[in-house]
Amino acid sequence: MACKMDITFENGTKMPALGFGTWRASDEEVERALNEALEAGYRHIDTAPVYLNEKTIGKVLKEWLDAGKVTRDELFIVTKLPPHGTRASTVQKYLKRSLDDLQLAYVDLYHIHVPFTVPEVDGPFLMDDDGQIVLETTTDHVALWKAMEKVHEDGLARNIGLSNFNQRQIQRILDNCQIKPANLQIENHIYLQQPELVKFCKANGISVTAYSPLGSRGIEKLLNREVPDLLDNPVVKEIAEKLGKTAAQVLLRHLLQRGISTIPKSTNPKRLRENIDLFDFDIEDSDMVRLNALDQNIRICDFGFFPGITKHPEFPF
Ligand SMILES: NC(=O)c1ccc[n+]([C@@H]2O[C@H](COP(=O)([O-])OP(=O)(O)OC[C@H]3O[C@@H](n4cnc5c(N)ncnc54)[C@H](OP(=O)(O)O)[C@@H]3O)[C@@H](O)[C@H]2O)c1
Repeated sequence: MACKMDITFENGTKMPALGFGTWRASDEEVERALNEALEAGYRHIDTAPVYLNEKTIGKVLKEWLDAGKVTRDELFIVTKLPPHGTRASTVQKYLKRSLDDLQLAYVDLYHIHVPFTVPEVDGPFLMDDDGQIVLETTTDHVALWKAMEKVHEDGLARNIGLSNFNQRQIQRILDNCQIKPANLQIENHIYLQQPELVKFCKANGISVTAYSPLGSRGIEKLLNREVPDLLDNPVVKEIAEKLGKTAAQVLLRHLLQRGISTIPKSTNPKRLRENIDLFDFDIEDSDMVRLNALDQNIRICDFGFFPGITKHPEFPF
């Protein structure tokens, strides 16, 4: 079943509310899964150079476009400025690199992936002798956003947005911009609903996309700590049983009914179809209230896999 719901940005752009996440998917997995996802009706694809699979995504998209199975206008492709590119002078370079890899002339939405900067190096991030990530602490969000506005004006990014920025950082951009961010991509799920930040974005005409909507299952290996299992929550399970849906579908539908778009990742054909099959049921108001009450301010994707990143002056959390 195709995604039948759009989120409309303040500038009138429509984005499918349900997208396909691609983090932690190898080239081999993503090639197979993206073909399955396009077959299943996904048209909004979320990627980033740090996921190390943009070339494969580009190859699959080209095959679909060349075969006439989809048109460019039907696709909504999102990518992001990497942490080692988060400075005004390198915005265009990294966007062009992503466009080359994706084999596209423009992306539909270009995010600043994170509000902090690390030095440019060939290969993985630079670590110091104590195993801490080396930081570049001169991050200037106002200059950076101007460079984002320029790539938009040049037609390389149809929309520009932010990811992982906090309210203070977003306000600074709003106070200094010509073009407002169209979208904020943040972690959002039953245990981290961020109602204040979502309300702030809505009040300022910024749409919100939820990443890790299923709690980023499997991330414990990367973080080296326990993370809660959202699918095992008794309230979620009870509502799922009542609706004849899965716990994952309840988690995703909860976000959509809060007016938040979302980008679950799955490389499993059955689960990726399950995750887009969200448009033939509603969670009733009383159950939305119960789900809203599950918020516990538990952040899963806290960037703990970058040791020492919390020392950056623009670390957002
Ligand atoms: N802007 C940012 O900083 C940022 C950060 C994190 C993520 N993201 C984006 O958001 C996307 C989604 O977040 P995420 O990948 O962290 O986590 P997620 O979508 O919450 O969870 C993905 C995990 O859940 C499993 N899964 C998927 N559907 C399922 C289902 N129906 N039932 C049970 N398990 C299911 C997947 O395994 P299988 O693949 O085996 O199904 C995978 O292990 C990312 O892929 C990325 O595109 C952005």
